[in-house]
Amino acid sequence: MELIQRPRRLRRTDAVRRMCRETRMSPDSLIYPIFFDETLSGTRPIPSLPGQFHYGLDSVAQAVEDCLAHGVNHCILFGLPKGKDACGSSAWDEHGVVQEAIRAIKKAYPDFYVITDVCMCEYTDHGHCGILCGHEVDNDKTLEVLAKTALSHVEAGADMVAPSDMMDGRIAAIRETLDQHGHTMTPIMSYSAKYASAFYGPFRAAAGSAPSFGDRKGYQMDPHNSKEALKECALDVEEGADILMVKPALSYLDVIRQCADTFDLPLCAYSVSGEYAMIKAAAAADLVDEYRIMCESALSVFRAGANMLITYYAKELSDAIRKGDIG
Ligand code: PBG
Repeated sequence: MELIQRPRRLRRTDAVRRMCRETRMSPDSLIYPIFFDETLSGTRPIPSLPGQFHYGLDSVAQAVEDCLAHGVNHCILFGLPKGKDACGSSAWDEHGVVQEAIRAIKKAYPDFYVITDVCMCEYTDHGHCGILCGHEVDNDKTLEVLAKTALSHVEAGADMVAPSDMMDGRIAAIRETLDQHGHTMTPIMSYSAKYASAFYGPFRAAAGSAPSFGDRKGYQMDPHNSKEALKECALDVEEGADILMVKPALSYLDVIRQCADTFDLPLCAYSVSGEYAMIKAAAAADLVDEYRIMCESALSVFRAGANMLITYYAKELSDAIRKGDIG
């Protein structure tokens, strides 16, 4: 056989395969979600997310040390407040759960990079991502509380804020407020293309943030659409976002690719709770090899064009990258 082209030449050994990898990953591009519960002392396993924990404010060191031990240096914080009300006022409380967590982290670990999720759904008693007017979320009223919340996170020491509410104009509103208060150098990571997804189920159980009526389809994106994702990203670029995000990740790899090709900004993807929980459940049922599925899934997100990944597997992935199993 006179074959000239033999792609298998570059697949023969581990050494040549590693040299020819097109996708490179680094622990530096992984972001680990941490849930702080204001009412908790110590840690408590999260039933909907096997292997994940709620942390009390007295367990900041444990949460951070564990990340550092795995080479993970970036986190995104979520808060479970002790009290909720109609407008979610605990979200911007100077001494709220996230604000206190930020202060404690930054005091002991100034180099550990702290991003905060900015949204109202964990703080409102109705579980929607903003201020209600009747049964609808009032966009412009919500912008005010989002901006206040983002500012309170930054004043507590957050390195970056990440609004996940999907209101129109939130990046501009947050940017303006941060700038007015002198925080011109604090970047905003926008959950630009956030879909109304069933994959958030385990998170909502973990964060106690499921809406008490209706759904989030009036503000989160319709999974049928991808041009709309480009529109959302373009608006965020105009409004001053520093990083764009697509969420969820695995079912939206096409959206990640299109956003990566269209925009110059760094692109984050969020491998959400349902993606993690499905792998965990399949592995627990002995149906798949958890380690290899975890690696392959994360890899696919980077191959699709993401530059960074928020994932509940950040620590395990960091280990896998450091061992050379991926990346
Ligand atoms: C807050 C928020 C959610 C997630 C991140 N920020 C839930 C939602 O929009 O319902 C989901 C994360 C996950 O599922 O892992 N709005």
